[in-house]
Amino acid sequence: MSDRGGPSGLGSVHLPVLLDEVLEFLKPRSGGIYVDGNLGLGGHAGAVLRRSGPAGRLIGLDWDDRALALARANLAGFGERATCVRGNFADLQQILAELGVGGVDGILLDLGLSSLQLDGGERGFSFRGSELLDMRMDDRTPETAADLLNKLSRQELADLFYYFGEERQARPIAAMVVAERTRQPFRTTDQLVDTVSRAIPKRFHPRKIHVATRVFQALRIAVNRELDNLVKILAVAGELLKPGGRFCVISFHSLEDRLVKRAFAEDQRFKVITRRPVRPGEEECRKNPRARSAKLRVAERVAEW
Ligand SMILES: C[S@@+](CC[C@H](N)C(=O)[O-])C[C@H]1O[C@@H](n2cnc3c(N)ncnc32)[C@H](O)[C@@H]1O
Repeated sequence: MSDRGGPSGLGSVHLPVLLDEVLEFLKPRSGGIYVDGNLGLGGHAGAVLRRSGPAGRLIGLDWDDRALALARANLAGFGERATCVRGNFADLQQILAELGVGGVDGILLDLGLSSLQLDGGERGFSFRGSELLDMRMDDRTPETAADLLNKLSRQELADLFYYFGEERQARPIAAMVVAERTRQPFRTTDQLVDTVSRAIPKRFHPRKIHVATRVFQALRIAVNRELDNLVKILAVAGELLKPGGRFCVISFHSLEDRLVKRAFAEDQRFKVITRRPVRPGEEECRKNPRARSAKLRVAERVAEW
């Protein structure tokens, strides 16, 4: 069976990004124990399980119960070799301890959203259409994007758009958000898109991306505490990997990539395997536009440090 087809036809909903490269660096082998911190629909996980047959084990985490249910179904054919857990990868150390796993041979992170979350509607991740401004990947997260828009001060909103969205027009957007919410509280994505478009003079609208892309990214990062979670796992991964074990991280924007690059360079338990990030080729980007911004960095746990 190829690495791309799963036991139940994986890959039709969410194409795993940089799959060949991940397998090449992770080097799954029979008897090894691997962690996929972003199980999604189980695309990468299924390929790691196939490569590590007959006795490799995969522990997959996702905090989205809908993604997890699909991953469980998609990986059911691997039986006890696959363990799917609902949890935040930031808690990986505790999750492995609860499973009685001492050290692992590889960790993969494929950060961000799955196509299911982005295109599946309902959760307000997309600026197309009109959906409730939720943006929680894990529905146990206390605050939605609408809650933040309706609650934070103008300064806090400006900081959020600037730091998490790298949005240069953060201040006028924050001012327009505050003006809009006094008229009516934020509820839907189209209301936010309209507010952002009105806040930025037409001549400053970006050409290559949607005018609200950065604001949506900023809110999503804040709601899900994405950077905090990444910092936490980057700090413990060196401890959880066995010597020679590999840590592969696929990130999708510069804020994440910068954190990964710095952690790999500064943590003495790691040897950097990829001096420069690995990017998908043209062919992959054509087949899977979501791959365009992907960057893979890999580090290896050294024996002594
Ligand atoms: C890009 S998708 C992963 C797709 C997967 N590699 C595949 O091939 O199907 C990212 C997934 O990670 C999950 N996720 C994001 N942050 C997480 C976190 N801190 N802990 C656990 N899961 C997380 C999301 O819910 C989403 O399902």
